[in-house]
Amino acid sequence: MCGIVGYFGFRRADRVLISALKRLEYRGYDSWGIAVKTPDNELKVYKKTGAIGDVSEFRLCDGCIGIGHTRWATHGKPSDVNAHPHTDCEGKIAVVHNGIISNFQRLREKLESEGHKFRSETDTEVIPHLIEKHCSNMNFEEAVMEALKELEGSYAFVALKGDEDKLVACRCKSPLILGVGDGEYFFASDIPAILEYTNRVVYLEDGDTVIVDSSGFRVIGSEGEIRDVKVEAVPWSLSEAEKGGYEHFMLKEIHENPKVIEDTLAEYVKEDEVELDAKFAVGVSDIVFVSCGTSYHASLVGKYVIEKLAGIPVRVEYASEFNYHDTPLTRTLVVGITQSGETADTIEALRKAKRYGARTLAITNVLGSSVTRIVDHVLYTRAGPEISVCATKTFIAQLMVLYLMGVKLSTMPRSEVREFLDSLRLLPVKVREILDSEDGIREIAEKFADYSNMIYIGRGIGYPIAMEGALKMKEISYIHAEGYPAGELKHGPFALLGKDMPVVACVVRDNTYDIMLSNVKEVKARDSPVIAVADEEDTEVHKFVDVVLRIPAVESILTPVTYSVALQLLAYYVARTRGCEIDKPRHLAKSVTVE
Ligand code: BG6
Repeated sequence: MCGIVGYFGFRRADRVLISALKRLEYRGYDSWGIAVKTPDNELKVYKKTGAIGDVSEFRLCDGCIGIGHTRWATHGKPSDVNAHPHTDCEGKIAVVHNGIISNFQRLREKLESEGHKFRSETDTEVIPHLIEKHCSNMNFEEAVMEALKELEGSYAFVALKGDEDKLVACRCKSPLILGVGDGEYFFASDIPAILEYTNRVVYLEDGDTVIVDSSGFRVIGSEGEIRDVKVEAVPWSLSEAEKGGYEHFMLKEIHENPKVIEDTLAEYVKEDEVELDAKFAVGVSDIVFVSCGTSYHASLVGKYVIEKLAGIPVRVEYASEFNYHDTPLTRTLVVGITQSGETADTIEALRKAKRYGARTLAITNVLGSSVTRIVDHVLYTRAGPEISVCATKTFIAQLMVLYLMGVKLSTMPRSEVREFLDSLRLLPVKVREILDSEDGIREIAEKFADYSNMIYIGRGIGYPIAMEGALKMKEISYIHAEGYPAGELKHGPFALLGKDMPVVACVVRDNTYDIMLSNVKEVKARDSPVIAVADEEDTEVHKFVDVVLRIPAVESILTPVTYSVALQLLAYYVARTRGCEIDKPRHLAKSVTVE
């Protein structure tokens, strides 16, 4: 998920592009760049690794037409060369792109065989080269539309040609809007980028190509027809817009969960095949997960899933404690799960694992992050940048990769693989149902927001759900919430129960159901208010608890996804009711880079 912008008007393009990009940095911030057409029909390009930072004095060149990009690397590590804009061989055509060109490798090999020289490792660079190729026998916008016919995947891009006073932009499964000002036009991945200049926008559709020049703009639809489009006014303030209209980044990111699931499946599943390079597992006898915080809870789900689907023994270790164990690891795969890829404890644990002869794999959300430089293998989650300190969508993305890893390492017959993939493909629908029922979750949250303590319980696959639910509540509401295996309660925590200690029971309809129900009754018998998280087909549990948080039914092994999204919302609304600083909770950081 990157941020792209384009400007056509009367202002200095370099200044407009930079201020617009700064408003899109929540979409990606590992490198940035702009290209501006000079008054003498030259193309000036500037690109740099890192966040934009203070560029108040920055000036590239005169010129009122330009494009810009802030990057969230997916193909090719963050570097000056891989930063956008990318250009053709002669540097006359520049392109900024958001999305993934899935057939880029094939296109690149073909273009290289025709003499094109590539500079970067990105998928994007095929676009300016394709346009260049077609410009040899047609005009600029025709060449862009010809290039489109060869592209597969998701993309929104804006193209600029040094000797043309126009911008050509295209949208296909990646966000792109057109901002309409007085005598000036703006392209952007999202509304925050343009609100400083105009609140009049055209919402583009997949398949649209837009040409902006001195005569104005025209939108060409996927069938080549000129589309009659509406210019609409955006009712948002700038800060609201950055959060996409949500009050907090955390709520926005919780609502991104369905898309994150779709993107992960799109990345790793082709038809009914899990296309995940599992070289990392060849010859290993067991797996050890090392991680921290929310990633540790994903590891607990990973253990359950991989042992169940693939029968490989799995151990889960807190990365910070792993350093104190002396176990031989010669035939072990040590997997570090870390969304940021920068958590020092996890990095140190992986370094130790390597010293002890283990093979290492990182599951991370950040391309080019430190962890990717020390491990043997990397699997990326596709959650896009997560701004809120509290991990939500990256947790769900980690679970998705772990399910697919479990399928890949399993010996399940094709029919079972197909069935399992079908149930994974249903998850976005189920999660959207939970998001649609958010008002009900808010009402429950408001009832429980004044407590100072809470206990979360679960069994089997419900245990990691309880642990993560408790962590979310702790992180942002400052309620002292603890997660326990339900069977552990009677060995101590029972002493804490009573009317001031609500219990959140994660009740999953599998082989743990009956005993979980009796645990719930034991808790009720000690006067604790009980919130049961249970699926919609459960006709028993409501009889024994104060309130039920209903979840659409899925296979029990998939409940960590559905139940966790509901518990993310519960924690969010409790914290909101308590007036907590949700996106930047006290004493916490998005990633802890010290041990
Ligand atoms: C903490 C974050 O600093 O690190 C948590 O506040 C996170 O949200 C934990 O789960 C681990 O981070 P990572 O990046 O290694 O998954």
